[in-house]
Amino acid sequence: MQNLAFVIVTLLAALAISRCNAAATVRMQLTHADAGRGLAARELMQRMALRSKARAARRLSSSASAPVSPGTYDNGVPTTEYLVHLAIGTPPQPVQLTLDTGSDLIWTQCQPCPACFDQALPYFDPSTSSTLSLTSCDSTLCQGLPVASCGSPKFWPNQTCVYTYSYGDKSVTTGFLEVDKFTFVGAGASVPGVAFGCGLFNNGVFKSNETGIAGFGRGPLSLPSQLKVGNFSHCFTAVNGLKPSTVLLDLPADLYKSGRGAVQSTPLIQNPANPTFYYLSLKGITVGSTRLPVPESEFTLKNGTGGTIIDSGTAMTSLPTRVYRLVRDAFAAQVKLPVVSGNTTDPYFCLSAPLRAKPYVPKLVLHFEGATMDLPRENYVFEVEDAGSSILCLAIIEGGEVTTIGNFQQQNMHVLYDLQNSKLSFVPAQCDKL
Ligand SMILES: *[C@@H]1O[C@H](CO)[C@@H](O)[C@H](O)[C@H]1NC(C)=O
Ligand SMILES: *[C@@H]1O[C@H](CO)[C@@H](O)[C@H](O)[C@H]1NC(C)=O
Ligand SMILES: *[C@@H]1O[C@H](CO)[C@@H](O)[C@H](O)[C@H]1NC(C)=O
Ligand SMILES: *[C@@H]1O[C@H](CO)[C@@H](O)[C@H](O)[C@H]1NC(C)=O
Ligand SMILES: *[C@@H]1O[C@H](CO)[C@@H](O)[C@H](O)[C@H]1NC(C)=O
Repeated sequence: MQNLAFVIVTLLAALAISRCNAAATVRMQLTHADAGRGLAARELMQRMALRSKARAARRLSSSASAPVSPGTYDNGVPTTEYLVHLAIGTPPQPVQLTLDTGSDLIWTQCQPCPACFDQALPYFDPSTSSTLSLTSCDSTLCQGLPVASCGSPKFWPNQTCVYTYSYGDKSVTTGFLEVDKFTFVGAGASVPGVAFGCGLFNNGVFKSNETGIAGFGRGPLSLPSQLKVGNFSHCFTAVNGLKPSTVLLDLPADLYKSGRGAVQSTPLIQNPANPTFYYLSLKGITVGSTRLPVPESEFTLKNGTGGTIIDSGTAMTSLPTRVYRLVRDAFAAQVKLPVVSGNTTDPYFCLSAPLRAKPYVPKLVLHFEGATMDLPRENYVFEVEDAGSSILCLAIIEGGEVTTIGNFQQQNMHVLYDLQNSKLSFVPAQCDKL
């Protein structure tokens, strides 16, 4: 059914709950599944770029203004970066959901599943859960959905909330909005009364072994919003290593301060035209000795469009074409190595280097309002040895109008979404040692 090689990232196991005062920290470990598959570095990077492009397509058209066909960049490469494993109901039924900071609804495929895609786990069966309840269509939760209606008694239980939630790539899920207990696998900790979509009609690009999606966006239906956490964080280990990564909800301040260096903080900006995304205020980019001549307006929101977001579900940072070309050219001019002639299918810009030379690479610095993200070499270039020679590639891609900070650039960085204070903070960290 699912080809092993196509599954990029899975989340492994365990979650530990620690009680400190009233707040419980939820810890989840994530593992980059590509790491154990013996993929050549170039192939790994190619797959990450394809996923980043597919995700950009899914997201950019979320206002339905730029429809993108499902599977445009699919090529058998899933769009998922991380799967969260949890369980819903009493007794708990396991689900595995794509972690998505670019959407809000939590949903999983649901019996009787008249139109579902294949999944590895059994479909969630609401009829066997003793704690499940339907929501009514005049509830606040139901009214918080972009598209919802009242079930008509002919097809649905009377006055229940029926949702339709669609993504920019035309993937769509329709079903009942239900409320049930969520159990975080491992520690057996559970939270009652979480609203989620029981997806009966689900269609689109779902090829990552997921049973649904867990929205981590800023809207009221997302997992962080419903759990009413003040913050959450993630810390990704090196993508080509085997060490587990971590997601924390409501983390203690002392843990966060254990990074290696000064904590940098920048405001999280709201975009009324898209209340789900985490927008940042990016001011400029420096490559080595050169602050690029990019007007700030390249990175800012223009009447609800464009702007800069941070997205844990995107692998590679993407820049608008004009900015991308400036970065690429400044990089090439400072590294001073021959350009590898382009392969039209290759999304990366690469230079040819002497074997094992570890050539000089300029710094790449992102200047945010109030914060500087100084990327270490391994967070924006990758080096591949290939038939007796070596190539050095820029791990950034050319994208649409939205600048997206992807997770490759966040390796070994503890990134905190401070929802209470509308701030994003980050600090270099050894993510396997959190
Ligand atoms: C898909 O998920 C199932 C259930 O968690 C798991 O057993 C299986 O290994 C996964 N398949 C891949 C290819 O990761
Ligand atoms: C459906 O619910 C509405 C509002 O409670 C009620 O007025 C109506 O009679 C119900 N219809 C049926 C068929 O139960
Ligand atoms: C996260 O939020 C909780 C309250 O919800 C707070 O106690 C804790 O200090 C916050 N952690 C950080 C790192 O800001
Ligand atoms: C801004 O966007 C709104 C809604 O799309 C539109 O009605 C308005 O004309 C736009 N304003 C400008 C200055 O582009
Ligand atoms: C160019 O891309 C094709 C298709 O992916 C691949 O088979 C070929 O090896 C690539 N050529 C180089 C020089 O990388």
